Amino acid sequence: MIIAITALKGGVGKTTTAVHLAAFLQTLAPTLLIDGDKNRSALVWSREDKLPFYVASQAGAPGLIKKFTHIVIDTQARPEPEELEDLAVGSDLLILPTTPNHLDLDTTVKAVELLKTLNANYRVLLTKVDSRTKNPQSAREFLTEAQLPMFKTEIPLLVAFQRSPSLGVIVKDYPDRRAKTGWYRYQDIGKEILEIIPQK
Ligand SMILES: Nc1ncnc2c1ncn2[C@@H]1O[C@H](COP(=O)(O)OP(=O)(O)OP(=O)(O)O)[C@@H](O)[C@H]1O
Ligand SMILES: [Mg+2]
Repeated sequence: MIIAITALKGGVGKTTTAVHLAAFLQTLAPTLLIDGDKNRSALVWSREDKLPFYVASQAGAPGLIKKFTHIVIDTQARPEPEELEDLAVGSDLLILPTTPNHLDLDTTVKAVELLKTLNANYRVLLTKVDSRTKNPQSAREFLTEAQLPMFKTEIPLLVAFQRSPSLGVIVKDYPDRRAKTGWYRYQDIGKEILEIIPQK
């Protein structure tokens, strides 16, 4: 399957999501993460060779694609509408991460307006969810009211997500008691994806 992680907004957890979903898919079949961001964040994360899957740049990907069953594409913030269109056409599923903040939610609605015209398969993913605040609940209500398809699972705000890139690992391998929760949530997202795109 090909899944692309995109958003009109920066810093909403695209790379974090791409890395952890690639790690989940790798437990099922060979998975390639294509880093489509000029900042090469996923490539930098993979530099120590501790990620359980292969990461390639966009330029390096074409020769590799046929060797992998699953492809995860990480993208840069603020893609052009044409880029979004290409991603929608070329992927089985687009994932739109958003934090529960108003500005991020508004930007997500704008992205969905674009996607609706393209007949794309997409899901919104709530990330950096701080359950000590009321934000997540009102974000969910907002998304439901706007009739945006979303994942049932959401990703909690965890220090381990912030720190694992500097160790070059995914949260599953980050030495912190709460880190595993983050990994379980991405596994649950992975399971939801398998329901959306059943595998032969
Ligand atoms: N669930 C989370 N809990 C805590 N911090 C998080 C979480 N997800 C992401 N972060 C942190 O938020 C910042 C932005 O995350 P990330 O790089 O994944 O977003 P992005 O959308 O790819 O950003 P950019 O647009 O710059 O590419 C990073 O410092 C990351 O470690
Ligand atoms: Mg990124």
